[in-house]
This record gives sequence, C-alpha cells and structure tokens, in this order.
Amino acid sequence: MTDPTSLLLLCRPGFEKECLAEITQVAAEHGHYGWAQPEADSGWLQFHTEQASRLYAELPALVFTREAWPVLAHLDALPASDRTRPIADALQDQPAAGQLFCDTAEGDAYRGTARFAGKFVHPLRQALRQQNLLTPKDRADLPAWHALFLDSSRVLLGRDNPAHRPRWPMGVARLRFPPQAPSRSTLKLEEALHIFLGDTWRQQLQQSFTAADLGAAPGGWTWQLVKQGLQVQAIDNGPMDDDLMASGQVEHLRVDGFTWVPEHPVDWLVCDMVESPARVAERMLDWLTAGWCRNAVFNLKLPMKKRWQTWQDIEQRLHARLSGASRNWQIQARQLYFDRAEITVCIRPGT
Ligand SMILES: C[S@@+](CC[C@H](N)C(=O)[O-])C[C@H]1O[C@@H](n2cnc3c(N)ncnc32)[C@H](O)[C@@H]1O
Repeated sequence: MTDPTSLLLLCRPGFEKECLAEITQVAAEHGHYGWAQPEADSGWLQFHTEQASRLYAELPALVFTREAWPVLAHLDALPASDRTRPIADALQDQPAAGQLFCDTAEGDAYRGTARFAGKFVHPLRQALRQQNLLTPKDRADLPAWHALFLDSSRVLLGRDNPAHRPRWPMGVARLRFPPQAPSRSTLKLEEALHIFLGDTWRQQLQQSFTAADLGAAPGGWTWQLVKQGLQVQAIDNGPMDDDLMASGQVEHLRVDGFTWVPEHPVDWLVCDMVESPARVAERMLDWLTAGWCRNAVFNLKLPMKKRWQTWQDIEQRLHARLSGASRNWQIQARQLYFDRAEITVCIRPGT
C-alpha cells in the first residue's frame, strides 16, 4: 500500500471552513501544503497532502478538529451482498490493529448511516479478526482502524495513533447531564476540565480552594466547582439557583464581571459571559497578569463571520501579553463538543 495522501478531519458541522483554515496553517508551519473541498455543514473534510502520515505524526492539539487520521483507502461501491471483504482486502498488508471504530459524521443527514455503522461494526470486527487484522481482544494501546461511512456503500478507511486519539471516539463527549445541576452549560465546563486537565481533573480541583465565576447565573459552572469542594464567588446580575446557594459554598455578587476584582487571589477563574471575545480575553489577561487567579477557563463566543481570524487575533494577543509575564503559561483551546459557535480556552502555569 502506498503512503496516505490525505487526512480525514472531523469537526462540528458548520465549522468546516475553520477546520480547513487551521489545518492549512498548521500544515504550512510544518512544511506541508494541501487542499480540501469541504461540503458545508458536513462535519468532515479530507485534506489532501503529500506525506499525510508525517503531517499526522507532527499534529499539535487542534482547536477546530475533533479527530484526525490518515486515509488509507476510499471505497466507493461496497456491494450490499458482502461489504466486509473489500474492506478487509484494502487493509490486507497492514499490521493488526487493536480496535475498530465504525463512524459517521455528525448531523441529521447521517442518522440512517449512523444506525447502519452501529450495526455493521460487529460483522466487520469479526471479518478483520479472521484475517488477523485485529487483535483477538480490544487493545487501546495499539493503533485502531477507522471506517467513516458516508453512506452504506461509501467508506473512508484509516488507521490512527493512540497518542492522537481523542478522549471520546470522534471527539463526541459522552457526559450525562447531572439532574441537580442548574443549567446544561455545566456539561461544557465538565468537558473542558476533562480535555484540558485530563482524567484526574477532579483530584486536581480538590487540591484547590477558591474560584471566581464571571457570568455565573444560574450556576451550571459554579455547581461543578462547588461539587469538588471549592468556595466560589459567583458574579452575575441574574439569579443563582437556590439549591446551589444553600450549599453555603457560594457568595453571589451582583456586580459587573468586567470591573470586579477579588479581594484575595483565587485558584481558578472561570468565565462564561456572553460578550465580545476580544473583550473577554483582555479581561482574562488582566486577571492572569495581575496574579488575581492562578488558572483560568473561559469561553469565547465567536462572531458569525471571520471566526478563524478572530481566534487568530486573540491567540496572538494571549501570547503577546503572557510572554511579558514573569512566569511561563500553558495555553490550550478547543471547540468542545458541548460548545456551539464558541471555543473554550484554558490557561495554566506552564512547566
Ligand atoms: C451563558 S450565561 C452563563 C451560564 C452559566 N455559566 C451556567 O453554567 O449556568 C451568561 C451569563 O453572563 C452574565 N453576564 C453577561 N455580562 C455580564 C457582566 N458584564 N457581568 C456579569 N455577568 C454578566 C449574564 O447575566 C448571564 O447570566
């Protein structure tokens, strides 16, 4: 089999242009050039580039890509009588993988295909095991096969590297809404903590004591922090959830999140204010550079147009202001599964 000449990238439907702009820029920074013709709202794109495997190996964490892998084959006419054989044939000269994922892109248009892929994974797994193309038991530490179905007769096949695999398959966060939480936004902060802090995020938060939540009402984000034992100052003119206030761990201040300053530095600053992203970012930088908080997680609502450019300008600003500070900072950003037209940023002391 020849070297892959494209990468498959999954993103939030509607963000294909941002996904393409980002991969084009990252590829260029690593000396690779490529192109794609994404279909609007499809939730995926195929980035054609020489040496796709090398680019894949060099990929940093991306903001607008949920998952990426090099494409090994694109099969266009799977016969309904036996779809497994052409797939196994296409993978024949590859070493065995440890898992198989049968995927579809996200969205209503793929609902039927998603049902098909969910069932088809079983016979395909069996067929690949018979051909020694899959280990007898699932092994998460080995590369995995990916079969992305566009419909039941068209599939893109690839092989990932476990180090590049997202926390959840296809980057679709599997988190259940906790019924006691005051708002669905709570899932956004929970996903952010999983992604940016890793699986030990609860323990890491439990080692902290205080937090400030700007734009806190009704309290979905505050609730996550309270649950880990933190004392939270919740800043919002709107009302906070009564049960959350009854915890005794929340001080609700009806003041402006853009001018309020804490009396003592806090361990965590979180911010979900619906405001211009540049203004929110500047305020976060004020907090970090003044030492009013040690860590920050904040959401940036992206405008309708020039979303990529907006993030580029803000990212530059973050680097510019933080590079002048006396300590190193780690900046992570991601369009989370629970983010809509927005991205979430985490800034913590670097090593
Ligand atoms: C998306 S909601 C926050 C939801 C919250 N994170 C949760 O999980 O329940 C945005 C909040 O920001 C607040 N907000 C907007 N501008 C603000 C400002 N200048 N100061 C304080 N709060 C503000 C709004 O009142 C609103 O409650």
